[in-house]
Amino acid sequence: MDHNKKKLISIFVALGLSSISSSVVLADEAVKREQVAKQVTVELMQQLGGALKKEMSTQGPESAISVCKNLAPKTLSEISLNSGWKVTRVSKKVRNPLLGMPDAWEHKVLTDFEARASKGEKLNEMVFGEIVKEDGVGYYRFMKAIGVKSVCLTCHGSSDKMSDGLKVKLKAEYPMDQAIGYKVGELRGAVSIKQPMSIPLHP
Ligand code: HEC
Repeated sequence: MDHNKKKLISIFVALGLSSISSSVVLADEAVKREQVAKQVTVELMQQLGGALKKEMSTQGPESAISVCKNLAPKTLSEISLNSGWKVTRVSKKVRNPLLGMPDAWEHKVLTDFEARASKGEKLNEMVFGEIVKEDGVGYYRFMKAIGVKSVCLTCHGSSDKMSDGLKVKLKAEYPMDQAIGYKVGELRGAVSIKQPMSIPLHP
């Protein structure tokens, strides 16, 4: 048995999530769920990143707003409907507070991601997942860090560098926008997945 699995088992027992024998099953389950969650989020980010780059280069930033505004939430809700998980994007500095505000667990993981990044860990591989109990219900929760790339700066960088057209459009749609002033390599937020343990993974 590898070290990670042993550690997980002892955590589950300590948390009172289960007995030792069912903790072995839970640890296997957490490892499997992490693999699937990682695969889903990597594919999702590649797909959205590709769509954004394409739209930016062919149609320009004002039109590319629709990738972050429409395509991203639509894709996340499709994955949610098909999997039975809650899949969202969260951040400590949001443009859209309705969709992007983190809950307490997500806020803690974002703070942890910042600490890991400040110690030199790369954002593109950074993930965290664990089984938690909330109000007596078991969930597998997972987050994958989203880093700021240069293509993001057009809409999330310094507002001095934004074109007037874009600034007006963003201001009109998001009067309380906090998602500006980012630099390349900073943590923009994370994709967050919450899976009820009662829903089995697809085979
Ligand atoms: C063309 C403009 C534009 C570009 C470029 C852009 N975004 Fe966004 N982004 C937006 C808009 C508009 C929203 C608000 C979407 C909504 O209404 O939910 C947003 C929201 C987000 C959110 C959700 C949290 C929040 O603040 O509401 C994340 C995460 C995000 N963007 C990450 C990125 C990343 C990473 C990149 C670069 C790969 C990027 N964005 C590039 C316009 C843009």
